[in-house]
Amino acid sequence: MSRLDLHDTIRAVVYSDGVLRVLDQRELPFVETQLECHDAGEVAEAIRLLVVRGAPAIGIAAAWGAVLEARLLQAAGSAVTQAALESALVRLNAARPTAVNLAWALARMRAVLARAPADPLAALEAEARAIQDEDLAANRHMGELGAAFLANGSGVLTHCNTGSLATAGFGTALGVIRAGYAKGKIEQVYAGETRPWLQGARLTMWELGRDRIPVKLIADSAASHLMRSGAVQWVIVGADRIAANGDTANKIGTYQLAIAARRHAVKFMVVAPWSTVDMATRQGSDIEIELRDPGELLSIAGKRTVVEGADAWNPVFDVTPAELIDVIVTERGAIERPDESAMRRLAGQS
Ligand code: MRU
Repeated sequence: MSRLDLHDTIRAVVYSDGVLRVLDQRELPFVETQLECHDAGEVAEAIRLLVVRGAPAIGIAAAWGAVLEARLLQAAGSAVTQAALESALVRLNAARPTAVNLAWALARMRAVLARAPADPLAALEAEARAIQDEDLAANRHMGELGAAFLANGSGVLTHCNTGSLATAGFGTALGVIRAGYAKGKIEQVYAGETRPWLQGARLTMWELGRDRIPVKLIADSAASHLMRSGAVQWVIVGADRIAANGDTANKIGTYQLAIAARRHAVKFMVVAPWSTVDMATRQGSDIEIELRDPGELLSIAGKRTVVEGADAWNPVFDVTPAELIDVIVTERGAIERPDESAMRRLAGQS
């Protein structure tokens, strides 16, 4: 087992024989339980409720959701065609709006059916498997590419959860952190809590703790103070959608980290597979930002913290302008000082 394999022991999405098992991320870190999905509707609901979450992981789960539905069609003696699967694909696609990986994965599944393969179910299974395997390979590669930017002994701040739980394994920003730590480039990680769903506190702290990577939790509101202290040289985050000009949608709070990072001469890195890049969206302001139930802000762990009758506004992503990003790392390569022409070059569009 390589040193990096030791830092990659969690799998959030596992398919076998007509059952998709997803690690229930609502229950972590204290309860490790898997939820079983048997059809596309159950997968869509698991995505909507954040049982499975993180841009690459929801794309992978949706691809397997299409496979589950195709199996049910075949078992009922119906032909597995694009028309027959379409309503399930639409339902999966509607589960969450911001991460483009969902639509990207489903477009790949549609393209398989459009080729009218002799055995559509086998072809869909092979495609879902490829989507999952390619994501893991991309993460390993991005880990190497991203870690190359770090000086030995760096401090880094990350936000939300971008690890094995959010991907096929290893992670995007957390993959760079895993690779950077294994190479001695990272001395200390700081993880923001990530209110209101606490992906940083509940999930990133759990993942890095299991891997024995030194991590300290901070309140989201402590980030600027941390940067001014000189303890971090990099902010490293993932992405849910990167527009053609490099503007990046990610977990709410990312934008203010980028502003604070520029103010304190801390470098800002976005790490995401190419499946998160949406060249059809010109700029960040064109990205739909998911608004979730205000109730998520009104209580903590089921205990009400705000007076009855109070209202709240709960956007769960924001957009960081490309000009605040020092480098975007994808498996195709890294773009320093991203802009539309650099993005188009990497996309093979210029
Ligand atoms: O609402 P979530 O938990 O799905 O949001 C996740 C994020 O914002 C991640 O940073 C992003 O999806 C990248 S995960 C590799």
